Amino acid sequence: MKKILVTGGLGYIGSHTVVELQNAGFKVIIVDNLSNSSLDVLEGITNITKTPPAFERLDLRLKWDVTEFFKEHSDIAGIIHFAASKAVGESVENPLLYYENNLNTLIYLLQECKSRGIDNFIFSSSCTVYGEPDTLPITETAPVKPATSPYGNTKQISEEILKDTCAISSLKSIALRYFNPIGAHATAQIGELPAGVPQNLVPFITQTAAGVRQELSVFGDDYPTEDGSCIRDYIHVVDLAKAHVIALQRLLSNKNETQFEVFNLGTGRGSSVLEVVNSFEKTTGEKLNYKIVARRPGDVISVYADTAKANKVLGWKAEKTMEDALASAWKWEKKVREIK
Ligand code: NAD
Ligand code: WQD
Repeated sequence: MKKILVTGGLGYIGSHTVVELQNAGFKVIIVDNLSNSSLDVLEGITNITKTPPAFERLDLRLKWDVTEFFKEHSDIAGIIHFAASKAVGESVENPLLYYENNLNTLIYLLQECKSRGIDNFIFSSSCTVYGEPDTLPITETAPVKPATSPYGNTKQISEEILKDTCAISSLKSIALRYFNPIGAHATAQIGELPAGVPQNLVPFITQTAAGVRQELSVFGDDYPTEDGSCIRDYIHVVDLAKAHVIALQRLLSNKNETQFEVFNLGTGRGSSVLEVVNSFEKTTGEKLNYKIVARRPGDVISVYADTAKANKVLGWKAEKTMEDALASAWKWEKKVREIK
């Protein structure tokens, strides 16, 4: 049984990936500093897989502690690195926190990989690297645009760090560029738990439907799109999680074509904000209180993935629908709020 280190494994995407890794027969050890998650997630994962994953509370910014951790775990076959700070607005207000947390943690892990011969590394990147794309759908060869936030910049720099490290060592790495992950596990045992006021669309929708927020603000209906609202590629988090298992298996079996590879993870389909709102109402039967307000600064107009590379090369395809995702997100929200 191969042992896989999942950093940030108690977070939103990490926890769903741990479930899929365990289902695929991997032995998982999670490290997380609980800065954006809680220990309850361990119980949720265990309820689904019936196998408690190993867990160590570790802050990956502490280089000494990272080294100590690897001394104690000499049998790690691969790493999936989710741990990072991810709030775009916060990164503008506190860039040093983002550069420290998103870059130092990666560097410390890669230093351990290099000295210990751990060669398989999956990284959480983002479609944010494409900025406002020149053509749609977005292929992996589309230019990386100058970052508009420190957060986005950390993803671009991280990819460069990985590429440069692969060039001088035996490291093999895959950067997965996620589009917009939404939804929760079908069992409602795990899901997204945003701290404070949600910045992302779907948690704001479910919290509004649950009565936690009064009203959803739709940021702009005057964009050059069919209904005037922005378009994104919303991908079910369970589909996303499964792609990590496939990417990891690709590295473990040396099927990768180059030492550093990049894949888009999306559905290939763009949905407008108003379409998501309508779909939520239709799927759940809940009426959503919303109003159109001004555009949100920094929003790009339209972003959706060309998924051909992931489909052909990884042999992975998003299977779940928008309705699946919204129904699961609502089921999870109701569980969290104890709504019957
Ligand atoms: P999340 O905040 O739910 O999970 C991240 C986890 O990492 C949390 O449990 C947090 O406690 C932990 N963590 C943060 N800093 C740490 C540190 N220094 N040491 C140890 N643990 C630490 O976020 P998520 O949505 O699951 O995102 C996972 C990854 O995917 C991140 O790298 C994020 O940038 C990237 N990503 C997310 C999205 C998205 O929309 N959710 C989109 C694209 C990329
Ligand atoms: C989606 C759409 C909003 C909230 C962000 C990061 C990106 C990536 C994914 C990590 C947009 C609209 C939203 C609301 C709204 N994360 N909206 N009312 O902006 O595509 O991407 O998360 O890498 O880097 O920037 O996602 O969910 O915030 O917004 O109208 O209350 O919903 O304007 O069009 P976004 P989002």
